[in-house]
Formats: sequence, structure tokens, C-alpha cells
Amino acid sequence: MNTMTTTTATTTAVLDASGVTMRFGGLTAVRNVDLTVNAGEIVGLIGPNGAGKTTFFNCLTGLYIPTEGKVSYKGTVLPPKPHLVTQAGIARTFQNIRLFSNMTVLENVLVGRHTRTKEGLFSALLRGPGFKKAEQASHARAMELLEFTGLAHKAKHLARNLPYGEQRKLEIARALASDPGLLLLDEPTAGMNPQETRAAEELVFAIRDMGIAVLVIEHDMRFIFNLSDRVACLVQGEKLVEGTPQVVQADERVVAAYLGTPFEGAPGAEEAAEVQAAEDHAAEDHAAEDQTTEDDADAPSTTRTNRTEGDTP
Ligand SMILES: Nc1ncnc2c1ncn2[C@@H]1O[C@H](COP(=O)(O)OP(=O)(O)OP(=O)(O)O)[C@@H](O)[C@H]1O
Ligand SMILES: [Mg+2]
Repeated sequence: MNTMTTTTATTTAVLDASGVTMRFGGLTAVRNVDLTVNAGEIVGLIGPNGAGKTTFFNCLTGLYIPTEGKVSYKGTVLPPKPHLVTQAGIARTFQNIRLFSNMTVLENVLVGRHTRTKEGLFSALLRGPGFKKAEQASHARAMELLEFTGLAHKAKHLARNLPYGEQRKLEIARALASDPGLLLLDEPTAGMNPQETRAAEELVFAIRDMGIAVLVIEHDMRFIFNLSDRVACLVQGEKLVEGTPQVVQADERVVAAYLGTPFEGAPGAEEAAEVQAAEDHAAEDHAAEDQTTEDDADAPSTTRTNRTEGDTP
């Protein structure tokens, strides 16, 4: 009992999702998923296409109201409203990049900052001293984030003119502008080349080192297993496995879910078995032919061994 209390006190759950279920009509996209992310952690979320990963993110961020279950951030249950979730401290990026393409890089980051500025519409219209000060502070913070993500030299470029990899980085910079305690990344390296992916890995480590916990969805297994302290695998909406990268990558069910290893009775398994049987049969025939034509005592065939034994003086 005491041990339990101590454990709870020492590990701070930044995110605690419990029993999250999301149904769309007859389709259950996410089924009874529990997941926690603790302070200082990078947690990976993997699973085949259509497993429910993005839907789960949407449930965490208030874009969807889960059919069942609840989501807490630092011990407080979150209302399922995106702006309240952002205000509470969860920021995210999107699988399909969502930038204001006709705004500059800097302006995109400033937009991400608005949840943290108190200055309202009137203050902005009047452009009083409060507004000026807030604007300067926001600008400075946005430039800091552009430095951090390596985009400062592109501050004045239109977002739509950035190469794909940099647009992904800009999404991260914009998400960081809301000063989150938890960052959710949905396939941050999709469309990146290997060098960009490596740089993205370093960026995520740096974000974690800033004291922001990270939950990341990715299909790039090398990226996810390098990065994560813990990995959870969703398959058909359910959490199949959760553990250290070592445990998860060795799990037969995870391998099967990704590689589609045919299970007994699966379509195609029968044909594969027939081909295998035919190959085995052909190999046996070859071995039999060899026996009759060769006199090699070291050959590995059982029948041949018997024969050589017979020949042995
Ligand atoms: N708004 C929606 N209405 C109906 N069905 C949906 C909706 N959003 C997602 N789905 C369905 O839920 C399932 C899970 O989709 P989701 O996008 O969460 O998968 P995913 O794991 O993110 O896949 P991917 O790796 O391809 O991004 C799919 O069958 C999808 O068609
Ligand atoms: Mg997805």
C-alpha cells in the first residue's frame, strides 16, 4: 500500500488517457485504450494504417469527443474542446500539414502564440502600450522558436514556399509557441529524407530536454525505436502491446501486424504451403539422384549416410 502511494507520488503523469473508445457508426476506430505519458518521457505510438492512431490523437485534443473514456492532463480531466486543450498545455502537429500557406513563417508561429497572449481585440485595435509590449514579447519568442527549429533564416518566407521537411518543422515551431507541457506529433518525418529524419530526431530530443513530454506517431520504426522511452502498438483500434522499444520490436504480434505474416487459415497461407511442399519435394528428389551418382561419404543426406555406413569396412 505504502509502495503504491510512493510510486504514484514519484511518477508524474502529464497525460493520462483511460478507457478511450471512439465509434463512428458501426466502426470502432479506438477501443478502450489506456495510455499515460510521464514528465520527461518520449512515448511512441505505432500501428498499421487505419489502426486508429490519429483518431486517438483527435480524442486527446478535443477534436473528437470520445464515445467513452476520459483524458486528463496533469491530473485534471480535459473538456473535449480543442482551444481549451491547447490552453491547458497540449499542443499538436497534424499528419496532413495544416499551415497558413499565404502567411509568412514568422506569422504562422505568431498564430500559435495567441493562446498565451492576454491582449484582446480592443487592445489590438487601439494598439496601446500593453499591446505593443505583448507584441514585442510574442515576436521575440517566435524568433527564438524559429532559431530552435532551424528556420530563423526563413522567417519572412511564405509558408507555402518552404520545402516539405521545413513545413513539418514549422508546424512543430507553431505548436511550441503555445508553451505546451505535452507535444503530440502525428508522423513528423513523413516525406522527409534520411538526413531530415535524423535532424527531426535530434529536434525531438531537444524538445524533451526543454521539459516538454512528447507522444509521437510514426511509421519509421528506426526513428521511433531510437527515440522512445516507451512504445505502444495499436492494432485495429486496440492497444496490442506496450513496453520498452526492445520489448515491442521483439514482440511476435507486432512483427505480424506490420509484416502481415500469414497466420494459419489466412488467405494465401495455403498457396504458400503448397509452394513450400513442392520445393521440399524437389529438394528430396535431387538428394536421391545425388545418392545414385556420387560416392561421397561426407554428404549430409540421411539415406546417403546409411549407404556409406554400409560401405564402411
Ligand atoms: N471522422 C471519421 N469518420 C469515420 N471514420 C473515421 C473517421 N476518422 C477515422 N475513421 C476511421 O477510423 C479508422 C482509424 O483511422 P485513423 O486515421 O485513426 O488511423 P491511423 O492509425 O492514423 O492510420 P494511418 O497510419 O494511415 O494514419 C479508419 O478505419 C478510418 O477510416
Ligand atoms: Mg494517422
